[in-house]
Amino acid sequence: MRSLKGRDFLSIVDLTSEELTFTLNTAYNLKQRFYGGERIIPVLKGKTIMMIFQKPSTRTRISFEQAIVQLGGHSITVNWQELQLGRGETIADTARVLERYVDGIVARVYKHSDLEELARYANIPVINALSDREHPCQAVGDMLTIYEKKGRLKGVTVAYVGDGGNNVAHSLILAASKLGVNVRIGTAEGYDPNPEILKIAEEEASRSGSSIEIVRTPDEAVRGVDVVYTDVWVSMGQEAEREKRIRDLSKFRVTPELMKLAKKDAIFMHCLPALRGMEVVDEVIDGVWSVVWDQAENRLHAQKALLALLI
Ligand code: CP
Ligand code: NVA
Repeated sequence: MRSLKGRDFLSIVDLTSEELTFTLNTAYNLKQRFYGGERIIPVLKGKTIMMIFQKPSTRTRISFEQAIVQLGGHSITVNWQELQLGRGETIADTARVLERYVDGIVARVYKHSDLEELARYANIPVINALSDREHPCQAVGDMLTIYEKKGRLKGVTVAYVGDGGNNVAHSLILAASKLGVNVRIGTAEGYDPNPEILKIAEEEASRSGSSIEIVRTPDEAVRGVDVVYTDVWVSMGQEAEREKRIRDLSKFRVTPELMKLAKKDAIFMHCLPALRGMEVVDEVIDGVWSVVWDQAENRLHAQKALLALLI
């Protein structure tokens, strides 16, 4: 396997299935070591990671900052607008400067192409902390969670119900297909995954022996599955389409009745933040099915693995 050192992580596609599995094993081991009492594993000693955010964040920002602390490194977090980027300095010029100061950049942006530009001009690893296209760090944490809860990944079936074309859905589909996890997407017409991403995922799925299906009702999506996953119907940056999206996706709400169609021991996952009463109701997110807090915790362990391997 090629070393991950020095590489960017903008998409799940940037890792082969072997590299993704290795990252998950590393995350699992780091988590075990943390709970075994090793609060600090100083592989980032003397290193600084810069984090740039164009949008709000609770989990990603705090789990990355804490991951860096637990790896003995230092982080600098700024809002995009407070850099000269906010006044029009180019991404390329910013990248050329930042690489002289820091050892890696974690960025959350609206346009995925901005991230690609940052990565093109910065000769240090750039990690996607969410873009309009993907949320790959989320998917790594999610695969770790499914593995912990189900004891395996290969052959597990995940139903993703809701907006099938968003960043979280895209990274989930890509990671699942690389790891042999079957995915059923229950979404409305017009909310399918990006065809380019779907095509890559289908190729990966045929290699790993898993399947990807798109269905138009939530019932068909969740029947007999191991995992029911949802995310908001209106992602950050889509606020102008709010009314239409809610109208179009309203039948994909995750309720106890829907959960009962899944396997008896099915789990419920959500990347969070959740809009309670919209894509999921309280009885599910607070119910016996829900693993969302463990899922949120695993962002920390997954990102520690990514940082340890890439930086
Ligand atoms: N799931 C996730 O990325 O959450 P934040 O937007 O709070 O970072
Ligand atoms: N799809 C959501 C995920 C938030 C973590 C968004 O982009 O707003």
